[in-house]
Amino acid sequence: MSTRVLTGITTTGTLHLGNYVGALRPAIAASQAPDVESFFFMADYHALIKCDDPDRVEASRMQIAATWLAAGLDTQRALLFRQSDVPEVCELTWLLTCVTAKGQMNRAHAYKAAVDAAVAAGEEPDSNVTMGLYSYPILMAADILLYNAHRVPVGKDQVQHIEMARDVAQRFNHLYGQDFFVLPEAEVEAEMELLPGLDGRKMSKSYDNVVPLFEGGAEALRSAVAKIVTDSRGPGEPKEPEGTALIQIFDAFATPTERAQMRAELRAGLAWGEAKQRLVAQIEKELGPMRARYAELMADPERIESELQRGAERARAIARPLLARLREAVGLRRSRVLPGQAAADVPKAVPPLVKQYREADGRFHVKLTQGDAVLALSPGFESGREGAQWLTALKQGGAGAVSLAEAGDPGALEAALTALRQQDAERERAKARKA
Ligand code: TRP
Repeated sequence: MSTRVLTGITTTGTLHLGNYVGALRPAIAASQAPDVESFFFMADYHALIKCDDPDRVEASRMQIAATWLAAGLDTQRALLFRQSDVPEVCELTWLLTCVTAKGQMNRAHAYKAAVDAAVAAGEEPDSNVTMGLYSYPILMAADILLYNAHRVPVGKDQVQHIEMARDVAQRFNHLYGQDFFVLPEAEVEAEMELLPGLDGRKMSKSYDNVVPLFEGGAEALRSAVAKIVTDSRGPGEPKEPEGTALIQIFDAFATPTERAQMRAELRAGLAWGEAKQRLVAQIEKELGPMRARYAELMADPERIESELQRGAERARAIARPLLARLREAVGLRRSRVLPGQAAADVPKAVPPLVKQYREADGRFHVKLTQGDAVLALSPGFESGREGAQWLTALKQGGAGAVSLAEAGDPGALEAALTALRQQDAERERAKARKA
């Protein structure tokens, strides 16, 4: 099975060069690996926690989507979607909320920081805390678990949230007795923390030291680079490049040869002003063509929209069957005759039926029916054994775990699978009694 890699970006602002070098570029490169399935989404439900300006949420979402596309994400393979287009994530959030310990949420960094700030300002500890902020890690866990992501590339500040997602996944799996959820791993890329801002500290909006990515065009890039802090050595004076913000940003866009050459020239006295012009040219080589695509996309919101809708459909195709299994498992089920209540006068529910048969082409198929309804039909297999394996995988993992030539109502299918699992368990018990 391929590895699922997933990450979300909260849609409250625009992206800067540090986001591109630290997150976008490596994520897009990683999404090209053959055995990787990538999921990228605009976390707009999360945006509501810290932003009550609807236009800003919308503009940011469009800009971030356009940025992913302009930077070359291949949406034939990777999934790009808007979190709020998959409402299943809210339902999963509730299921997870019900098994999450409050004490664990008390320990979340974002919540503790809000409390500390309030206390420092002489206010009630929780005075600035909404339930959204408080439950933020559970929504994030749902984002990850809904797609059974294996790896989650994030910045250091998010590692705690991934650990919470693991915990809650484990608790849920244990409580309901099946491996519904993969336990995700955080992946903190060294690169993610690296790019310095104009003043040499980490590039971040909160330090107001960012180089914008596309917004403001080439001009904004040039004027930001002009503000990079350097020492006061003049033209002709030898300069030590190592450790400067300028050289670190340059490195992020240069080949090893170009890096060596820039260092040599600075040591030989290249003026800082000249070096900055070269830095702009170096960044432009990579970003210029992307910025042009970005402008085209921003002028064509329908195209962005149709990409996002297609991504959401693919995401929901994965989310829906898992949620059907979860609903069944926790007892949010269709009404049925309860065990022990099947008295003679109660009409018997039609039990689900499994048939294995061979088509004229000699291929083996497995079909799960209930009454007249076909709930699941396997693809054609070379052997009956493969058919049996398919059925086992379907019983263990639900509709999401196998390929289906035909699928019926997901709720009915899950209910039938529960019945089959119960039959199997019954048979096991009978065997154990005999032995
Ligand atoms: N909380 C993340 C941030 O602020 C964004 C996010 C939301 C996310 N859901 C996610 C990241 C799921 C990774 C996986 O950066």
